[in-house]
Amino acid sequence: MQVLHQIPKLYDSNVIVGYDESDDAAVYKISDNLAMVQTVDYFTPIVDDPYTFGAIAAANALSDIYAMGAKPVMGLNIVGFPAEKLPLDVLVQILCGGSDKAKEAGITISGGHTIDDNEPKYGMVITGFAHPDKIITNSGAKPGDVLVLTKPIGTGIITTAMKEDIASPETADNAIKIMSTLNKLAAECMIQIGVNACTDVTGFGLMGHLHEMVSASSVGAEINLQNVPIIPGTWELADDLIIPAGTMRNHEFLSDHLIWDNISYEYQMILCDAQTSGGLLISVPKEKSDDLVKELKASETLTYAVIGRIIKDEHQKIRVTNGKNE
Ligand code: CO
Ligand code: CO
Ligand code: CO
Repeated sequence: MQVLHQIPKLYDSNVIVGYDESDDAAVYKISDNLAMVQTVDYFTPIVDDPYTFGAIAAANALSDIYAMGAKPVMGLNIVGFPAEKLPLDVLVQILCGGSDKAKEAGITISGGHTIDDNEPKYGMVITGFAHPDKIITNSGAKPGDVLVLTKPIGTGIITTAMKEDIASPETADNAIKIMSTLNKLAAECMIQIGVNACTDVTGFGLMGHLHEMVSASSVGAEINLQNVPIIPGTWELADDLIIPAGTMRNHEFLSDHLIWDNISYEYQMILCDAQTSGGLLISVPKEKSDDLVKELKASETLTYAVIGRIIKDEHQKIRVTNGKNE
């Protein structure tokens, strides 16, 4: 984010991942064997049902901890709520959705803070732990690595269509299920196998988060559109020009970093689509990639798609091709 460059920086040598890294979460080294991993995420409702909104917001907040290869242990609620405009039961439903998701993740919610706000907002601060040497950053991708994605994309376009009541019920339900799913199992698989880099796919879209990874790792990447899992119905909505503003901003921002090789406007938008609670994007050494995919499959993650590979490129570009699979 541009704003962050203008704020004076505070340094502590125990902060081993911080602002400068633009990674998923901050990491504080407590001892040689223990690091604390922390993140905060909250947003306005993306679905109508308050319970579902709470569950998605919690899954999304937890995701940054999973992306670092850490184990979440505790959450704190962050809530904005218009108590004069909405019945308190709506707030109860939001918090129940968050609480049930926290329970599924095996963490406690140990407090939080609520303010009066014109529009509801919900999310969490999450604290996790990991061994300092086992933190999985987004800067370790190596040429030859295989890129694996654990959830299909398209939730930005679909939730925008849902707000306008033009997404089909099946498409909407599918997107809700995907956004509500924890990245817990995917993270456990990647920790078990041992990978070079990881990030979760959220607001900057698949291409934006891959761009962060390739620039942090000083490499390039090649993606084959044919192998990218896309939620059914997304293309039709993109074709109807249902494109969120954030997605268009991502596309514009990334224009210098991407090479579109015979990719239509609709698919360019889908690949840049701003996701909520998206999957893990994992950079794994080629010799371990079959084992990772096998583990993900056995854990029944939503998908375990090999979407491309890391290449050597001093310009750190991402090339997207549309090649048939051999
Ligand atoms: Co993230
Ligand atoms: Co985040
Ligand atoms: Co307070």
